[in-house]
Amino acid sequence: MSFRNINFNNKTILITGGAGFIGSNLVFYFQENYPDSNIVVFDCFRSNETFSNGNLKSYGHYQNLIGFCGDIICGNINKKSDLELLNKYKFDYIFHHAAISDTRVYDQEIIMKTNVNSFYDILDRAKKDHAVLVYASSAATYGDLPSPQTVGNENPGNPYGYSKFMMDKIAYRYSLNNPKMKIIGLRFFNVYGPRELYKSSTSSMIIQLGHQILDGKAPRLFDNSDQIYRDFIYIEDVIQSNVKACSSSDNGTYNVGTGISRSFQEIADILQKELATDLGTAYFTNPYGGYQMHTMANILSTIKNTGFQPKFTLEQGIKAYIPEILKTHGKNIS
Ligand SMILES: NC(=O)c1ccc[n+]([C@@H]2O[C@H](COP(=O)([O-])OP(=O)(O)OC[C@H]3O[C@@H](n4cnc5c(N)ncnc54)[C@H](O)[C@@H]3O)[C@@H](O)[C@H]2O)c1
Repeated sequence: MSFRNINFNNKTILITGGAGFIGSNLVFYFQENYPDSNIVVFDCFRSNETFSNGNLKSYGHYQNLIGFCGDIICGNINKKSDLELLNKYKFDYIFHHAAISDTRVYDQEIIMKTNVNSFYDILDRAKKDHAVLVYASSAATYGDLPSPQTVGNENPGNPYGYSKFMMDKIAYRYSLNNPKMKIIGLRFFNVYGPRELYKSSTSSMIIQLGHQILDGKAPRLFDNSDQIYRDFIYIEDVIQSNVKACSSSDNGTYNVGTGISRSFQEIADILQKELATDLGTAYFTNPYGGYQMHTMANILSTIKNTGFQPKFTLEQGIKAYIPEILKTHGKNIS
């Protein structure tokens, strides 16, 4: 895959969160397509620390970066002294993906510090270096608003979604005050694909259901999963959105989805077809109140201003992902 709208060779590229799912895919996109680019990963990687929900505090994993030839700085975006380790570089492009990505963390202080406070430092850094800044926002900014979710109409329903919404507002004001800067926020919908394994229980339902099926078990879904819809987007399209954002005509926040909703039941059915199984479905009661029943990104402005064009249907994305689902089945992820 290559989206050759910009020559990134001889450019210095910072990828925060580069040991995570989306960040590491971006790392390899640049390494493979622009061998003369200088890529710097900044990530705190994982420790054994967990949040009160039992999940790890960060999901970065060295395995996501096996084969990476650039620089790695292990650091915490909350620590100024760690960010200073980046001072020996001058960046042309900054892709800011480091964040608490777990939507079910409710410790507001740590979420706001990690996702919002650090963003001011990243913006200042982009300004100082005259770097293009692309950062990760989220569909969680919309909460349970009806589809199609459209930029300008937000209602975050958890601290994570709120933190991303605040990032968008901060970016907007920063853009107004610094009109020469290029600052683009990308609101990813439900992303799936290779290198998400280390997100454990926060990885997509595509890999989780795939591995359940490979265990010989019926995929576990909430009751009425044929009526619970999401806009699922394959990682290659997400990488495309990051790259194309760099030449966006206008600063702003853009949805990154397919513009099409598919149900969780359809995922299980497509996986069973691809894996040639017929295990049925094990339904159980949804334990979450206020659950979002339908998402579908309005991507008109993304298409118009960034040239983004999703290529993968759910069937095509799952088909492309199957070899990796097979390869990672049963793998130790500690
Ligand atoms: N995957 C999705 O479906 C999705 C959807 C919407 C938005 N996003 C956003 O996209 C970005 C990337 O998501 P992802 O799916 O790759 O998640 P991820 O958890 O795999 O990646 C985030 C990375 O940030 C690192 N990190 C966390 N806290 C840090 C800190 N304090 N200092 C330095 N590094 C830190 C983690 O180690 C991890 O490698 C995140 O900002 C996330 O909120 C993802």
